[in-house]
This record gives sequence, C-alpha cells and structure tokens, in this order.
Amino acid sequence: MPVKFLEGEDGSKLKILEHEGFYIPTFPYPTHAQEYATLPTWKARDDDLLVCAYPKSGTHWLWEVVSMLKQQKAERIDAIKEWNMLEGMEQANFDSLPSPRILNTHIYFRHLPKDFKNRKCKILYMLRNPKDVAVSFYNHHSKVLEYEYSGSWEHYFTRYLKGDVDYGSWFEYTLDWERVMEDNPEYPIHTLHYESMKQNSLNEIKRIAKFLEIEVTDDLVREIDDLCSFEKMKKEKNKHEDVNEWKDKEPGMYRKGQVGDWKNWFTVAQDDLFDKFYKEKMSKSKVKMQFSV
Ligand code: A3P
Repeated sequence: MPVKFLEGEDGSKLKILEHEGFYIPTFPYPTHAQEYATLPTWKARDDDLLVCAYPKSGTHWLWEVVSMLKQQKAERIDAIKEWNMLEGMEQANFDSLPSPRILNTHIYFRHLPKDFKNRKCKILYMLRNPKDVAVSFYNHHSKVLEYEYSGSWEHYFTRYLKGDVDYGSWFEYTLDWERVMEDNPEYPIHTLHYESMKQNSLNEIKRIAKFLEIEVTDDLVREIDDLCSFEKMKKEKNKHEDVNEWKDKEPGMYRKGQVGDWKNWFTVAQDDLFDKFYKEKMSKSKVKMQFSV
C-alpha cells in the first residue's frame, strides 16, 4: 500500500498517501488509494466550479461563500467542504452530486481530472501568507488523529520548509499555480488572498460574484458575509464534524481565523530563517504576500 510515514528530524512521523511521488492525506475508507488513482479520468460538467488552495489557506471559508453565492441565497450550506473534496471522494459520489457542483481541492492543476481542463471549468484560487499557513497546518496535523502525528513546533517548522507534509511544499505549490496562470492566460482562474478577504470581505465577495457572473444585491453580499464570518462558521459548521477524528474529541477546523497569529509562534531566529528561505525560493515570483494587517 502506498500509505507511508514521513519522518521528521525529531523522530516524529506523519501519515500520508503517496501517489506518483505526490503526497495527499489518507482518508479512512479502504478503497481511497484506488479511487484517487482514477481521478484524472473523472468526467466534469460545464458548470462545475473548483475552489483550489494550499491547505489552511481559507478553503472552508471560500467554499462556503461560493456555495451561497451560487445558490443566490444567504442560507447555511448543510454540508461540509470535505464531502466535495476531489482527492478524498469516491467517484460514484462525485458523479451523483447535483449540479452545480462546488468542488474543492489542494492538489496541483496538473493532477486535476483532464476533463476539467478540456471544459475550462472555472477555478477560484485562494492564497494565504505561508507563515500563518505553517502555524495553522501545525495545529491541524497535531489535532487530526488520521495523521498519527505528534511533534514540537520547533521541529515542525523544518518539516514545513522541507515540504515533508501532505501536498508538499507551500513554495512549490504556489510557484506552480503562478506558472499555470502564465502558461494558460485564457484559463478562467480568479485569484484571491485570505488577507484581503479578512480586510475587505464585501468587496472580495462582489469580485467573486462578478467572476462567476452572478447578479448580487448589496444586501445579499452583506448577508453572505455575515453568515460566513469566522465566529458564525465556527459555531454552526462544527456539528458536521466527526469528533472521533479529532484529538480530545475537539474539532479544530475553525481555530483562530486571524492574520498574523504566526507572530505568537515564530521565534526571531525562525522568522529570519523563514524570510531568507522565502526570498530565495520566491525570487522570481510576482506573488505579493501580506504577513500582517
Ligand atoms: P487558523 O488555523 O489560522 O485559524 P482551510 O479551510 O484551508 O483548511 O483553512 C483553515 C484556516 O482558515 C484556519 O486558520 C481557520 O480558522 C480559517 N478559517 C476558517 N473559516 C474562516 C472564516 N470564516 N474566516 C476566517 N478564517 C477562517
């Protein structure tokens, strides 16, 4: 079986599924590896929408906003984004979802079903600064039992820079999407940043609606924004979580929802190292990141 444990320098282990050199999380059903292997051949529909992001970049938030926009109603979505997550689904389930399907994924563009690319299904691509992502991912790995991970933040920091986590390195992932957009300028991809969503969500929601060619009133945008606030989602979405999948039976998908929490975790030395690493890796990138607000 391609399930393996990525070892850290501290002896910690993190369970993942390896497929053709790429790491994804394991999903607790026996045919997951076989299902994932068939993903490239799955059939898309013209009105499928895809929310793409590196993990912990606000995928749940964006998925909820897009789902409400698409139904043109500020009504709580009675599902969680994991049920529509490409790399965790069974094909039969994918095929049986009613249209329009609002799908989401953390895999690379090149790993998407080919039919999505043929049909040019719209993509919403969300970015978040990699320092906050690191902290959020550490908490996620530490709390989700499926990873069987336990380790200190100090060592996790190195693991994250190396990309020894599911979906690999944030840097490689982000550079890859930049390349995809440069190489496919005609492909409909809408890019947005977690930090801008935090600062000016009403404007960002209107921009998403425009990209999706959906008519919205200011009232609807305000109502969707309110229902998708961190506090309301934390209160109302957790009921769908299986507490048995979380350490201490406490779902942790909605943790802090802030920009700049990394400052409570990074030491001065880690911050220096990170900045150097970022400069080196992203030297040719045009992506602009906001690390605080
Ligand atoms: P933190 O761990 O920093 O709190 P993803 O959905 O891609 O897994 O990202 C999870 C991160 O987004 C978590 O960050 C989570 O708290 C945050 N998040 C989830 N819903 C949010 C919302 N409505 N507003 C702001 N942040 C949200």
